[in-house]
Amino acid sequence: MEQLKIFAPATIANVSCGFDVLGLALDTVGDEMIIKKVAKKGVTITKIIGQNLPLETHKNVAGVAALALLSETNSEFGFEIEINKRIKPGSGIGSSAASSAGAVWAINELLGKPFNTTDLVRFAMEGECLATGVPHADNVAPALFGGFTLVRSYQPLDIISIHTPNELFATVIHPQIEVKTSDAREILKTTVSLKDAIKQWGNVGGLISGLYTEDYDLIGRSLEDHIIEPIRSILIPAFDAVKQQSLNAGALGCGISGSGPSIFALSKGEATAKKVAEAMKSVYEKVGIDYDIHVSKVNKQGIKIL
Ligand code: HSE
Repeated sequence: MEQLKIFAPATIANVSCGFDVLGLALDTVGDEMIIKKVAKKGVTITKIIGQNLPLETHKNVAGVAALALLSETNSEFGFEIEINKRIKPGSGIGSSAASSAGAVWAINELLGKPFNTTDLVRFAMEGECLATGVPHADNVAPALFGGFTLVRSYQPLDIISIHTPNELFATVIHPQIEVKTSDAREILKTTVSLKDAIKQWGNVGGLISGLYTEDYDLIGRSLEDHIIEPIRSILIPAFDAVKQQSLNAGALGCGISGSGPSIFALSKGEATAKKVAEAMKSVYEKVGIDYDIHVSKVNKQGIKIL
């Protein structure tokens, strides 16, 4: 096994109430990567298709994540990475996370799996740190574990894989503007009122319970964000209208995907998720904003070999 071609999924971080701790993986959108084991030591980014991103290993998120992994091995081999970027950077659906997670997952496979999945999250977080200035794990964890994940703790790193109901579908609309995660973090307050914290941890508990018991109404009631969304939503054109129309079309809940500008909704069943997509599109068509839109089952597997 000298080469792997993989799909590394896009992800929705935060999932409304779980800033920096909750995330889920998507099925229909993600990067494709080819990782080769080669005799020459080190990591080389040989080709990037689809986006203009740096090829220098130290400036590329996949390169940095791969180097973090290799620094904890005595590997006699090196690796070449080719990336077909299908996720636009700055979209809010884990573009840097997909490439970082994909690189470390494939290298671990090619080395005979010396590391567990939480170790791979730790290495992939180095790529996130390069991209956003903060080593957050709420995109790379679902990309690597699949399904929903919870970062129970950052220090020490403790990632919990959460049960994912079968009929849960996501709709994600990406208005064609770029919001840098670092900018979207810069505008946040660094303190939270006790009143808001009480609402937020009630919703996190409710969402986790709803996922385990497959109680779709409870999932919907818990998709609220009293802390981050009121601040960040001003960066996203027509956010309130998209949210309202999604709920009217039958979505369980709707919020900002990661740091935006993408907006996500969760629905029970694909038919409702597609209706939600139509509702979201109609808002942006009226406002005259270009968009990409995705309807996807929640991806329970995470990274896949192609
Ligand atoms: N939790 C991070 C944030 C995710 O919201 O800033 C970035 O994709």
